[in-house]
Amino acid sequence: VTLCLRGSKLQKVEAKKAAAEKAVSFVTDGMLVGLGTGSTSAFAIRALGERVKAGLRIRALASSVASEALAAESGIPLVPAEKMDTTDLYIDGADEIDRSRNLIKGGGGALLREKILAFHSRSFIVIADESKLVDHLGAFPLPVEIVPFGSALTLKELILLGCEAGIRQKDGKPFITDNGNLIADCRFGSISDPEGLNRALLSIPGVVECGLFLHPMVGRVIVGHRDGRVTEPS
Ligand code: 5RP
Repeated sequence: VTLCLRGSKLQKVEAKKAAAEKAVSFVTDGMLVGLGTGSTSAFAIRALGERVKAGLRIRALASSVASEALAAESGIPLVPAEKMDTTDLYIDGADEIDRSRNLIKGGGGALLREKILAFHSRSFIVIADESKLVDHLGAFPLPVEIVPFGSALTLKELILLGCEAGIRQKDGKPFITDNGNLIADCRFGSISDPEGLNRALLSIPGVVECGLFLHPMVGRVIVGHRDGRVTEPS
């Protein structure tokens, strides 16, 4: 059983890597590239680093402190946040992807910077292993970034929208985002109206952003499979 589990984990890692490498093949000289956050994005950052070492000339913007550090370590030239511009291509992972290319993101807690980069990109490629494909969003708890001030009241408002919500914890303490905020993980169950929910969440004072990345934000979805194939579900 242990060997089987290890094998399936390995296949998942290979699937993420295959999707990441395919997305990186679309990067060309002169591009400003947005770098996502998470384990799948980390494969993309490393693959991009290899291409930079081989002579590719690009600049990049990172969606988190962790991705910035990995990019620097991988030799990718970074643009400082204050010189931020629209990216030619943004590559990032997702926690759930539905058939209309709507996403839940923020499992890694970087949803705010990710959404800013995704919004200000000429093209957004989502990379994932096949386990992220769903019929309806919502089995994965929706991450919502909220400011610490009044967070108990903000949480109450979130719950009034019909979810079970809790403040994300890490090492026995509230998880703090790169922006100094908290994450409320909201269990709505199946989300039937993502646009309506996005609007309702953003209308609550104290909510900074939520992890719904809705159509037409996403240009392409590249999925890696356990058998090594890479596909683009339509
Ligand atoms: C981070 C994210 C990630 O893209 C998402 O959680 C997927 O992560 P992974 O590639 O590790 O499965 O939204 O905020």
